[in-house]
Amino acid sequence: MSGNTQVADRATAGLPQKGLRPRVLSGIQPTGIPHIGNYLGAMRHWAAEQEQYDSVFCVVDLHAITVPANHHPAELQDNIIGMAAALLAIGIDPQKSVLFIQSHIPAHAELSWILGCVTSLGWLNRMHQFKSKAGEDRENASAGLYTYPVLQAADILLYDADLVPVGDDQRQHIELTRDIAERFNERFGPTFIVPAPLIRESGARIMALDDPTAKMSKSHPEGAISLLDTPSAIKKKFARAVTDSERTITFSPERKGLYNLLTIYQLLAGGTDEAIEEHFAGKGYKELKAELTELLVAELAPIQQRYRDLVGDPAHPKQAKAALAPILLEGAARARPRAEATLARAKNAMGLG
Ligand code: TYM
Repeated sequence: MSGNTQVADRATAGLPQKGLRPRVLSGIQPTGIPHIGNYLGAMRHWAAEQEQYDSVFCVVDLHAITVPANHHPAELQDNIIGMAAALLAIGIDPQKSVLFIQSHIPAHAELSWILGCVTSLGWLNRMHQFKSKAGEDRENASAGLYTYPVLQAADILLYDADLVPVGDDQRQHIELTRDIAERFNERFGPTFIVPAPLIRESGARIMALDDPTAKMSKSHPEGAISLLDTPSAIKKKFARAVTDSERTITFSPERKGLYNLLTIYQLLAGGTDEAIEEHFAGKGYKELKAELTELLVAELAPIQQRYRDLVGDPAHPKQAKAALAPILLEGAARARPRAEATLARAKNAMGLG
């Protein structure tokens, strides 16, 4: 496991003690159906570790409005409900974890302002995500896109999270969160738990199937498999996945396309590198792709069934909203007092109010 996974020491920091389990917080943007990169790199662990951790998960709708060209109000409503349903479908249990919508808790926006005042411009200037999302036309990018990582820091710090389970692309944002928390604590006294990233050795960066030099992403659906893809779409996408002209099937990071497929295979089937290489000895890409299709279809079938049960007829998203509303209101009711207590601590430390 890479990254510092030491649990912050609350007693020495003079911070409130919580239960025995470390707390995790993570978030996902409601920008459409998640893909298997989101699932294998992050979401699957959230569901699997709900007993081990005191877990808080949020659908970060305020982050989803930072790119105006991608923001369509009616679509956003459906996407928020769709993402909440996807999280429940992959196994997030609202009895075990707190699941809520970010904009239901005003403390996120308020703490974000406060943290923005202890964040240096230089820190934000170094953020890779802003550079890649703003593209060439930086002058016209929104200020929200620029301060996006400060809102992310607020999400994490509000809940006193010890660990933040994410994919590799979020590493820099978690490092920034740590810098902001440390600077605040230095200036105003111990206030925030300094969280650590929880990034797995395998699967933290699933690559696009049609271009294994680029990360699998929602903005490039041709290279991604969505959690709701049909068996025939999955078969087709694996069949077209870029590999190479060599004959052996081995875990060699420099054979990027094959390495990505083997990583997905291993995450689904389990087993060591050696056992998998032995299993495919004398076989070719055709067999690998056929087995991958079978494994993924089997993994996704129950998720797709649960999603359909929750969302009902996709032509009537209002029904889904009504069905999920009580769960999300309950989640917000559980999240709110935690968030408000931390916000009050921060305001008090700064001499506000
Ligand atoms: P988002 O919505 O882009 O992605 C959700 C999670 O999926 C991971 N991920 C991947 N993992 C492996 N391979 C990939 N190709 C891949 N693509 C995405 C992401 O790393 C993430 O863990 N900024 C965050 C959302 C956020 C957040 C937070 C996360 C807002 N506040 C607080 C943690 C804590 C984002 O855009 O994730």
